[in-house]
Amino acid sequence: MKNDRGNFGSKLGIVLATAGSAVGLGNVWRFPFMTGQNGGAAFIIVYLGCILLLGIPGMVSEFIVGRHSQANAARAYATFARGKAWGLVGILGILTSSIILGFYAVVAGWCLQYLGASAMGRLKGDNTFVLNYFQQFSSDPVKPAVLGVVFILITHFVIVRGVKDGIERVSKLLMPLLFILLLIIVVASCSLPGAGKGIEFLLRPDFSKLSSQVFLEALGQAFFSLSLGTACLCTYASYFTRHTNLLQSAGQIAMVDFLIAVLSGLMIFPAAFSVGVLPDSGPSLIFITLPNVFQQAFAFMPALGYVISIMFYALLVFAALTSTISMHEIGTAFFTEELKLKRNRAAWILTIACSVLAVFCSLSVGKADLQVMGRSLMDFCDFLTAQVMLPTGAMLTSILVGWCASKQLVRDEFTNHETSGVKSFYPYYLFCVRYVVPIFILLILMHQFGVI
Ligand code: PFF
Repeated sequence: MKNDRGNFGSKLGIVLATAGSAVGLGNVWRFPFMTGQNGGAAFIIVYLGCILLLGIPGMVSEFIVGRHSQANAARAYATFARGKAWGLVGILGILTSSIILGFYAVVAGWCLQYLGASAMGRLKGDNTFVLNYFQQFSSDPVKPAVLGVVFILITHFVIVRGVKDGIERVSKLLMPLLFILLLIIVVASCSLPGAGKGIEFLLRPDFSKLSSQVFLEALGQAFFSLSLGTACLCTYASYFTRHTNLLQSAGQIAMVDFLIAVLSGLMIFPAAFSVGVLPDSGPSLIFITLPNVFQQAFAFMPALGYVISIMFYALLVFAALTSTISMHEIGTAFFTEELKLKRNRAAWILTIACSVLAVFCSLSVGKADLQVMGRSLMDFCDFLTAQVMLPTGAMLTSILVGWCASKQLVRDEFTNHETSGVKSFYPYYLFCVRYVVPIFILLILMHQFGVI
């Protein structure tokens, strides 16, 4: 089984594919609205702290489990821990990423719709028009559900081509394209009159907004954005080579991810402030506020506004696709190896299950009857995964790597058998993984459930 598993073909492929998983709607959609709601730069500082203290050590731990075992997440955890029960952490990850794929595809489907609508010039109108457009479209029973399923199918067809020819190739094409589009829009947005206020909002911290809730949100966002706790990094690391420097790769990927999130803020806030819109409108920011912002901000040159709008939604679609691919791969690898199925068949299991969830999530938007614990099914899935399942997965992984696994094995993987030149970081890493990560997450989960 080990030999016919795919592998990433190059170092660049490894970084781009894994960064492709990390960079997604979490950066371009979730990060800006969270920053807008939670005090701008103050939130970003807390977020950066979460990435450095918990994110990078957490990523390295998942990499260690996956690269050592070279198997799907469930088997990887069981092999690494030398105990079947630990395989459940892998299963939890597979479940988490499949739920995320279900609701994430719905938002990605909205991006597809907005890409088409902006190309056809259908997003022109005043505030009320754009608001109605979003409300009507997102609560329609058919179209958004169909587009969500279409997005999962597009993902499916990349996945069945395999690790190198599917995942790596698409990431190598889309990631640079995404970066170029982002830079063009950032430059256009920052050169608008009055853009300075948006830049200031993003860079000047308002610490009065900080609360325990903000810490919770920042942590959930860091995990979601780095694809941490879903076994996704573990699965991708199972395609890494023995020479991959795990710490260096985690650092590079976290840096790219953070940079793209901040650039997304620099793309949205200056344009919003230039037309007097406050960027605190929540999840609908990019679908309700932005179409109007682009129109007004570039009213002096409508053709530019038109092109920027298309580029923006294309960017979202690309970012979403490289992430949905990684979510899909986790389950596909599992079913291929555990049920001994052909990759194509295994992929269909996931495609069908996630499509069903996507349809229900889409139907729950704007309706009162598909609710779970007072939230729409869609919001519930987001809450459950980002604030409960991801932190739990990451906490268990750090307990496994920090306390339960063989110390020699962890050290060998971290240092590539003492050859990789990152030896001096090992004690810091071990300290974070043993104490900082589990204790922080535990406190946060206890806070979440009202224990403290
Ligand atoms: N990291 C992705 C984003 O920021 O959009 C979301 C994600 C991808 C979460 C893969 C989980 C996952 F397994």
